[in-house]
Amino acid sequence: MAEVVRVAIRSDADIVMVRQQARVLAKELGFSASDLTLIATALSELARNIVDYAGQGEIILSLINQGGHRGLVIIARDNGPGITDIERAMQDGYSTGKGLGMGLPGTRRLMDEFEISSGMGQGTTVKVTKWAR
Ligand SMILES: Nc1ncnc2c1ncn2[C@@H]1O[C@H](COP(=O)(O)OP(=O)(O)O)[C@@H](O)[C@H]1O
Ligand SMILES: [Mg+2]
Repeated sequence: MAEVVRVAIRSDADIVMVRQQARVLAKELGFSASDLTLIATALSELARNIVDYAGQGEIILSLINQGGHRGLVIIARDNGPGITDIERAMQDGYSTGKGLGMGLPGTRRLMDEFEISSGMGQGTTVKVTKWAR
């Protein structure tokens, strides 16, 4: 099973689009309605960060199957300014913008797996996974 969807992220309309695409994929995996909402929320936060801090980037959605466990992987990446202090960015309430500073830490809590790689001038890649139960 190798289903992959790529969505370029530049605007609010793209955020709406990627949420719809994720809903279709996640439904195929049999996620519950509440999981679909959690996934849409996490996705919105990651896409919003791309638009707000990097200007543009992309989101790659893929269905994976590891030893019979099916999951949805979301990769959000951009070539923007990057995050200098990741530890700080992962704290509740830390924002360099006008946000609530809950996007990254909230996304980590909503998903089963969370990886972030970023650095000044290196862009940002966030990879999260939600397993279907
Ligand atoms: N894709 C990104 N590129 C550059 N900086 C980012 C990116 N995503 C998050 N950040 C930085 O991490 C901080 C925390 O992000 P987040 O938890 O989503 O809170 P908020 O967006 O409300 O500020 C942001 O204020 C910003 O400084
Ligand atoms: Mg944010």
